[in-house]
Amino acid sequence: MGNLPVVTTSFVGRDNELVSVERALRDHRLVTLTGPGGVGKSRLALRTAERARDDYADGVWWADLSHLHDEQLLATTVCDGVGLLDHSPRRPVAALGEWLSGRRLLLVLDCCERIVGPCGQLVAELLASAPGLTVLTTSREPLGTADEKCVEVPPLSAGDDGDEAVRLFHERAAAVSPGLSLDDPGSAAAVAEICRRLDGIPLALELACAQLRENSAQEITGRLASRMEELTDDTLWPRRHRALRTTIGWSHELCAPLERLLWARLSVFRGVITAPDAEAVCAGGPLDAGAVAPALERLADQSVLRRTGDGYRMLDTLREYGAMWLAELAEDALLTDRHARH
Ligand SMILES: Nc1ncnc2c1ncn2[C@@H]1O[C@H](COP(=O)(O)OP(=O)(O)OP(=O)(O)O)[C@@H](O)[C@H]1O
Ligand SMILES: [Mg+2]
Repeated sequence: MGNLPVVTTSFVGRDNELVSVERALRDHRLVTLTGPGGVGKSRLALRTAERARDDYADGVWWADLSHLHDEQLLATTVCDGVGLLDHSPRRPVAALGEWLSGRRLLLVLDCCERIVGPCGQLVAELLASAPGLTVLTTSREPLGTADEKCVEVPPLSAGDDGDEAVRLFHERAAAVSPGLSLDDPGSAAAVAEICRRLDGIPLALELACAQLRENSAQEITGRLASRMEELTDDTLWPRRHRALRTTIGWSHELCAPLERLLWARLSVFRGVITAPDAEAVCAGGPLDAGAVAPALERLADQSVLRRTGDGYRMLDTLREYGAMWLAELAEDALLTDRHARH
C-alpha cells in the first residue's frame, strides 16, 4: 500500500546511509534528511521508503511539498498525498490526524525547506494524534522540532573515500551514450577528475554526464577546470555550492537560447509537465508553439528534464535556477498568471 513515485534511473551506493536512516527510523518517529540541493536527499528517502514497505501495515506514503511557498495548502497537500478526501468542514489537519490515528504507516514529506516551521508544527500535531505514525522528511535545513532526529546526507563517496560517484557517472554514461567506453586510462582519469571536482554531488554528476553526448570525458574535465577557477572565492561559495553552480550554469550556457527560455518558463510548473500543457503556457514571443515539443526533448537529453510516463519533471534545484532566470527576464508575473489560468 502506498504511493511512492516511480523512478526509472538506477540507484547507486548509499549502503552506510541506508543503515543509519533505518536505525534512526527505528528509534525516532521523526527523521529529517538534511543536506544541500542535489546531494541526494529525496532519492535516499525514496530508497529507504521502498525498503521499508513491509514494516508498515498501512503502507508508505509520499507527499511532495516542493511547490508550496507558505503553509496554506500544506495539510491539504498531505491529504492528497495519502489519498484522503475529506468533505467535512473540519480543518484538514484534524481530518488527517483522525485518519492517521488508527494506522501504522510511514509518511514521507519531501522538500520541506521553504516551510520548515509549518511543517514542524504539522508533524508535531500528527505525531501526537497518531501513535502508529512515523515521519521521514527531506529538507535543506532541519524542521527544528523537539524530537526530530536529523541525518545529514553526504555527497557520494569519491577518490580516496570510495567510488560511488564514479559508479554513478558510469551508469549514467551508459544511458546517455550506449557503447561509449570510458575504460582507457585517459578517460578513466578524466572521470575520476570530474567526480572529484564535482565533489560527488549526484545532480552535478548527472548534468555533467549528459554532456557526453557531444563531448569526451577529457573535454568535460578541461571545461570544468576553467569554469571552477572563475569562482574561486571560498568564503562566499563553499566548495559544494560552487560545484553545483558551475554545472547548472554550464548546462544552462550549453542550451540553445530557446531551450533556455523554455527552461525558465517551465519553472512555473509543479509536478508532471505534459507537452500540451507546456505548449499552452510557455509558447510566445520567440518561442513558437511548434518549437516547444522539440525543445522539451532537448532539455530531457541534457538532463534538465526527466522523462516520466506521461510527460516530464524538473528537479527542484534546476527549477529554482530556471525561476531565477525567469525573474531576470521579468516574465515571472506573466507566466505565473498564464499558468494559473491554464
Ligand atoms: N544514490 C543515488 N543513486 C542514483 N542516483 C542518485 C542518487 N542520489 C541522487 N541521485 C540522483 O541525483 C539527482 C539529485 O538527487 P535528489 O533529487 O535526491 O537531491 P536532493 O538532495 O533531494 O535535492 P533538492 O535539495 O534539490 O531537493 C536526482 O536525479 C537523483 O535521482
Ligand atoms: Mg529533493
